[in-house]
Amino acid sequence: MRWTINDSGSQAGRLAVVTGANIGLGYETALALAGRGCAVVLACRNLDKAKAASARLRAQHSAAEIECMELDLTRLKSVHHFATTFAKRYQSLDLLINNAGIMMPPYALSEDGFESQLAANHLGHFAMTGLMLPLLANIPGSRIVSLSSLAHKWGEIRLDDPQFEKGYSRYAAYCQSKLACLIFSYELNRRLQAAGIKTLSVAAHPGVAATNLAHYFPKFLSIFFPLVCQSAADGALPTLYAALGSDINGGDYCGPRSMGQMRGAPIKVGSNRRSRDEATAKKLWRMSEQLSHVQYRF
Ligand SMILES: NC(=O)c1ccc[n+]([C@@H]2O[C@H](COP(=O)([O-])OP(=O)(O)OC[C@H]3O[C@@H](n4cnc5c(N)ncnc54)[C@H](OP(=O)(O)O)[C@@H]3O)[C@@H](O)[C@H]2O)c1
Repeated sequence: MRWTINDSGSQAGRLAVVTGANIGLGYETALALAGRGCAVVLACRNLDKAKAASARLRAQHSAAEIECMELDLTRLKSVHHFATTFAKRYQSLDLLINNAGIMMPPYALSEDGFESQLAANHLGHFAMTGLMLPLLANIPGSRIVSLSSLAHKWGEIRLDDPQFEKGYSRYAAYCQSKLACLIFSYELNRRLQAAGIKTLSVAAHPGVAATNLAHYFPKFLSIFFPLVCQSAADGALPTLYAALGSDINGGDYCGPRSMGQMRGAPIKVGSNRRSRDEATAKKLWRMSEQLSHVQYRF
């Protein structure tokens, strides 16, 4: 049986934060959640784009409860500001969808001195999740969904040179960041369980979906994209399944079923041995705490 959003039941009375929700998979995730009655905070780096997305969303679901809040994951100051502002407005959170991301940009350092893909895809979400955890912890049914990628398979956590100071490969940096997202999701779940916290940490990947993410992709490869791509709405289904599926456990990883997980119905999928290595997970966690200056309180 193919899982669809209609299998999730009403989400009325629940609240979700979706990072990078103005476009692509994040927008489709927010749209589907709002369609089930969930209130959604669009956490975006550009408020004008977020407001435009909110208007598009309301055109489809006029009663949707949508709020736009500014969040730039490459700026730790912005992550702290988001978390503080959010905690003043809301007492709890049901779903945190760590969706925002960038792929293969030219080399750049973030305001805090981190390689931009590690900053946006992993470290920003690591900090954000740690700061938001008190609002999620033990809320019945609460989940944290982290977006990884098929690219995790080619990733390596370069503990001796995570910022690519010895030479930049945009491809290796993307793969590292997406492997980090997956390792983080698994390790977070282990730590939540060890602390007796019922919140689930679940990972997802969309396969290959037609979005703006391929902006920096080599042009010759873009020719093959339409042959394998699924729509952004279909690409969001593994995220939605991870967030709402009734048979999901903490530590699960969801992705599409067909064509080597590039497209198709959302199912639980496996991941490589590197992503499950607990020694690397502990080292990555320690490094992420040191770089982000965010200590988790379980
Ligand atoms: N599409 C795929 O085939 C694919 C495959 C594997 C994994 N993924 C993952 O899926 C996630 C969503 O990507 P997408 O395909 O929907 O790409 P997208 O269309 O490019 O959307 C990315 C979103 O992330 C936001 N973002 C980027 N940097 C940010 C930052 N520093 N702070 C806050 N928000 C930021 C973007 O904001 P702006 O609009 O302001 O740039 C945009 O809203 C990513 O984590 C990506 O790695 C996608």
